[in-house]
Amino acid sequence: MLKRNETLDDALAKVEERYRARNPKSAARFEKASEHLPGGNTRTVLHYSPFPLAITHAEGSRLYDVDGHSYSDFLNEFTAGLFGHSDETIRSAVREALSKGYAFGGPNMYEARLAELMCGRFPSCDQVRMCNSGTEANINAIGLARAVTGREGVLVFKDAYHGGVLTFDGDRPSPLNVPFKWVFGRYNDVDATRALIESHKDELACVIVEPMMGSAGAIPGSSDFLSMLREESSKYGILLIFDEVMTSRLGPRGRQGEIGVTPDLTTFGKYIGGGMTFGAFGGAKQFMSHFDPSGPSPLLHSGTYNNNVMSMAAGVAALEKVLTPERVKELNARGDALRERLNEIAARREVPVQVTGIGSIMCIHLHDRPITSPDAAKESDPRLRALFHLEMLERGLYLARRGFISLSLPLEQEDYDAFAAGFEDVILLLKPHLPA
Ligand SMILES: Cc1ncc(COP(=O)(O)O)c(C=O)c1O
Repeated sequence: MLKRNETLDDALAKVEERYRARNPKSAARFEKASEHLPGGNTRTVLHYSPFPLAITHAEGSRLYDVDGHSYSDFLNEFTAGLFGHSDETIRSAVREALSKGYAFGGPNMYEARLAELMCGRFPSCDQVRMCNSGTEANINAIGLARAVTGREGVLVFKDAYHGGVLTFDGDRPSPLNVPFKWVFGRYNDVDATRALIESHKDELACVIVEPMMGSAGAIPGSSDFLSMLREESSKYGILLIFDEVMTSRLGPRGRQGEIGVTPDLTTFGKYIGGGMTFGAFGGAKQFMSHFDPSGPSPLLHSGTYNNNVMSMAAGVAALEKVLTPERVKELNARGDALRERLNEIAARREVPVQVTGIGSIMCIHLHDRPITSPDAAKESDPRLRALFHLEMLERGLYLARRGFISLSLPLEQEDYDAFAAGFEDVILLLKPHLPA
């Protein structure tokens, strides 16, 4: 535990020492994995220092690591784990599908039903196409916008994350990014973005935006901002794409249903496949019909596993039987209550920490400056983040190193209480080290 006058380096060194002592098998797995996986890792976001916990199994809302500890999961696979880790309805749908064989090379009995369920739920979608990830969904949606408009430019917001090859650090695309012609706006900046769209109106195929920026720090888009995007893009025949890979869980009809703004195209992923591999994109028939293989000059949309039976069957079970509109509302209400509770604790304890987000998705920020765009969310000292994270893990509370949290259906009141108590403890430890 942190002592008065202890430096941040000392505090971090101590928690890391305890972490190493508690987790020798995770350390050994990491070392061995590093022989054939760069940095022991095959998905960058799962790495954190000094090494990540190796998970052996999970049940309900709990994760179990190889050293025999259990964790209350508040990360939930970065929103894909909305159903927890062992929902029986989803498990039996997958078992049932697998019992009839897999990898058919033909349409199966699930994909059209899943499409029907999605179109019934999300206002912007008359039709959808399935794929394997949110990244693919976004690439396809942008590609469709370019094909439909005959223009090349894509307006994206600084620091946006729309997938592994659609990643931006400020206005710098990752070297791995697909080489679309980007134009950069500042999130939630209504006037500047309006002017930007006007000045690029002849070259823009689309605007791609998350109604709440997720990875950038759970930063809600204001209703004015999102409505302005709708108005301006309609004015110039630019397609508006909502990336609802994360946010579609924030209301029974997605975030678009909550704010009453209907985009031209919407992209999906994460939880919709019930926790299996998933991506999809959809929109009005006038746009999606370009994929109709029997139409005139159809666009090719391929992907061996687009309709894999596990994801399709799990998705049908998830949307049809588990995630009713009432449960969507309940889960988001629980999230709102948790976020208010954590912010109330930080205020009462006078610790400059804040929790942003909407409903069941949130992010803990270790400063109290107002955050309406990612530039304002950035923290200066990664040691604070590491200290916070390792202290939370030590208390059996699992969340992302960057403070990202998403809730699952099986989390119970005692989990929320434990999280709030752990949070209070840890921010008090951090308090002497936080910038005033
Ligand atoms: C908003 C958003 N878009 C796209 C993606 C990419 O999805 P996937 O990891 O399935 O490729 C993510 C993943 O975190 C995301 O948060």
